[in-house]
Amino acid sequence: MNFRPKHMFYILCALFLLYSFSIYIKPLSIKEESKFNKEKAADGRLVWQSYNCQSCHQLYSLGGYLGPDLTNIISNPNKGETIVRAMIKSGTKQMPAFSLTDTEMNSLIEFLKSTDASGKADPREFYINKFGMIEENESE
Ligand code: HEC
Repeated sequence: MNFRPKHMFYILCALFLLYSFSIYIKPLSIKEESKFNKEKAADGRLVWQSYNCQSCHQLYSLGGYLGPDLTNIISNPNKGETIVRAMIKSGTKQMPAFSLTDTEMNSLIEFLKSTDASGKADPREFYINKFGMIEENESE
């Protein structure tokens, strides 16, 4: 069989399809929205604003710098929802305690779940791979 230009065309088409397919196998790093309740999260944003958490805390590194960034506190294996509830109830030397109603507390948690699902705030968890694309560092 002679090798013709059209064979090259078929090979390139096959490679194109294979590569496209391989890209879609790895799910995009967007997490499903179903992990939080949208309406409650919207209420939670108002709670976040009315107690002015942003004056001491950051979301995506923006905000006050007295306390830590809370964007991904929910999925942090050492922190999570329990720490948030405890911290708000009891406070520390540096952070005042807040007396939130149960509804406010639950909405606030939902809001923090939504910020968590929206992405990662810490740029140190990302690196540039050999193709020049930004990827999340899985090892950390
Ligand atoms: C007056 C500043 C201030 C305000 C206002 C404030 N915090 Fe804090 N927060 C801090 C500081 C400082 C720390 C770190 C305290 C420590 O480690 O002793 C902290 C810690 C936390 C932590 C634990 C974080 C971690 O990584 O351990 C959570 C959760 C938290 N705050 C939630 C909130 C929420 C929610 C609000 C709003 C209702 C709020 N904070 C309002 C100052 C504040």
